[in-house]
Amino acid sequence: MRTCWINGQFVPESEAKLSIFDRGVLFGDGVYEVAAVFQGRLLDADLHLARLTRSLGEIGMPAPASNDTLLEVMQSLATTNGIDEGLVYLQVTRGEAERDFPFPTTVKPSVFAYARPKKLSDDPNAAGVAVHVVPDLRWARCDIKSTSMLAQVLAKQAARAAGTFEAMMQEDGLVTEGGSSTLWIVKDGVTYTRPLSSDILAGITRDVAIALAIDVSMPLVQRAFTVDQAVAADECFLTSATSFVLPITRIDDTVVGNGTPGPVTQRLREAYLDRAR
Ligand code: PDD
Repeated sequence: MRTCWINGQFVPESEAKLSIFDRGVLFGDGVYEVAAVFQGRLLDADLHLARLTRSLGEIGMPAPASNDTLLEVMQSLATTNGIDEGLVYLQVTRGEAERDFPFPTTVKPSVFAYARPKKLSDDPNAAGVAVHVVPDLRWARCDIKSTSMLAQVLAKQAARAAGTFEAMMQEDGLVTEGGSSTLWIVKDGVTYTRPLSSDILAGITRDVAIALAIDVSMPLVQRAFTVDQAVAADECFLTSATSFVLPITRIDDTVVGNGTPGPVTQRLREAYLDRAR
């Protein structure tokens, strides 16, 4: 029986309940974080909590608890549920109130978190995954890690229906990001990823990967690239908290490079794993 945490209490997952009047349910009025657990420890929890604080600020919500408390809760969920490799999910909604779109005047945020095992070091996807190109149907504030994610649900369902692992979302021919990941390409030895803006989420793994690339003097440019450039790239890969660095070896019907994980991708994945160990 797994334990989760909801509104200040650790309870069995089956006993955790959220009201039908919770604004997270009614409006997707909330934000969330997903952090990896590796060798039983949370990875970059401080960075995830800093991003949560920013997301909350952007939607005019106070912090539901101190970051120290949330950190303790997240680590404790990993430990008590015996998670060696996996993730902790944390969500904050504006809380329960009569259905009315503007913010309620008095409302207590709902907060919950749970943990799940997931293979991270021996991920079979490290052999390479395929992506499916879809239009990016999202809103204008993709920098907020919002729980309103119907566009990503549709994008990732289309990707799955196409027999691929992830969506490659594009707008006007330019790649924005994956359904739940940051996308990268390598061409002639230079690694490219889209610069930060309200068009994409500021991925924590993105930040770490950039720092790792700089550490080993890997040429890297933060510049948007087109779907055509991705298709013609030497390497393509994705990053996220729960995937680390994964090679993309096919974009729809086109094989990327020689169809196997490229040297830059492999080097970054290894560097990421080394840092996590
Ligand atoms: N998603 N872009 C989007 C749209 C995302 O949802 C995510 C993460 C990322 C990568 O961010 P990070 O490196 O901080 O995980 C980029 C999480 C993993 C999810 O929704 O499950």
